[in-house]
Amino acid sequence: MDPRGRNMAVRTKLVAGNWKMNGLREDGVALARALVHRMVAAGAGGPGCELLVCPPATLLTTVGGLIAGSGIALGGQDCHAAAKGAFTGDISPEMLADAGCTHVILGHSERRHGHGEDDTAVHGKILGAWRAGLTAILCVGETRAQREAGTAVDIVASQLAGSMPSQAEPDNLVVAYEPVWAIGTGLTATLEDIAAMHAAIRTRLPAQTRILYGGSVNPQNAASILGLGEVDGALVGGASLDGESFWTIARNCPSPQPPPRERGEGGPLGASAMRHPTGARTRAPKGAGG
Ligand code: PGA
Repeated sequence: MDPRGRNMAVRTKLVAGNWKMNGLREDGVALARALVHRMVAAGAGGPGCELLVCPPATLLTTVGGLIAGSGIALGGQDCHAAAKGAFTGDISPEMLADAGCTHVILGHSERRHGHGEDDTAVHGKILGAWRAGLTAILCVGETRAQREAGTAVDIVASQLAGSMPSQAEPDNLVVAYEPVWAIGTGLTATLEDIAAMHAAIRTRLPAQTRILYGGSVNPQNAASILGLGEVDGALVGGASLDGESFWTIARNCPSPQPPPRERGEGGPLGASAMRHPTGARTRAPKGAGG
C-alpha cells in the first residue's frame, strides 16, 4: 500500500476528463459541482475508479477550489518545460502545481499536430512536470494513414522511445493511447486493436504503469473498452463536458482485481514475490484522488 491507500499491485483505473478549450467560468463551476455532487452521493467507494479533471488554465483555481476534498484530482492540459521565464503565453509545471494540479497531459495530438511539438519537446516537458511533482499523462497515437499503412505500433513505439524519460515509473507516468483518427470523430478503435496496442505499449513501460485509452470514449462504449484487462482507464474529451456522461463512463470501470498471488491463488511465495511489485516511489501527490 502507498500512503494514499492505493495498492500498487493493483492498477486502479483512472478516468480523466480533458476539457480542452471549453468552458467559461459558469460552465466550469456547473460541471465541477455536478461531479462533486455525484461523488458525495456515491459515498466512500466513489465511482469505482480514480477521477481527474483537466480544465482550461483559466478555470484551474476555480475548479480546484470546488473539487478540493472530493477525491477528484486536478490536472493541466499542457505545460512548458521550464519553471519560469520569458515564455509568453506558456504555463510552467510549477504554476500548475501551485494551482492545485497533481497531473498534466503532455504530448496530446492537438499539441503535436497543432503546435508542432515533437518527441524531444514532450520529453523535456515530462522532466519539467516531474521536477514540479506532477504525474505526466503522456499521449501517443497514430494517424489514420499510419494505421492503414500498418505502422501504428512502430509509430507509437517511436513516440514512447523519443518522449519517455528513463526515470519513468508507475507513480510519475500514465500513458494514454489515443489514435489521432479517433479523437473527436465518434470513431473508436476496435477492441482487438486497443488490446493489441496496449499490450505492445506495456512491453515498453515499467511494470504497473497505467495505460489509458482515449478517442471518442462515451457512455455507450465505455463498458466494453474499460472492461479490457489491458486498459487502465480512459482519457475523455467531448463526453467529459457533461457531468452525467463523464460519471457514467467512470461508473463503467470494473472494480480492480488483485493479481492471483494476492487472491491466494498463486504458487508459493518466493523471495522475488515478496518484493514490491513496482518499486514505485511512495510520494503522495497533493490532493490526489482515489
Ligand atoms: P474525445 O477526445 O473523447 O473527444 O475523442 C479525447 C482526447 O482528445 O483526449
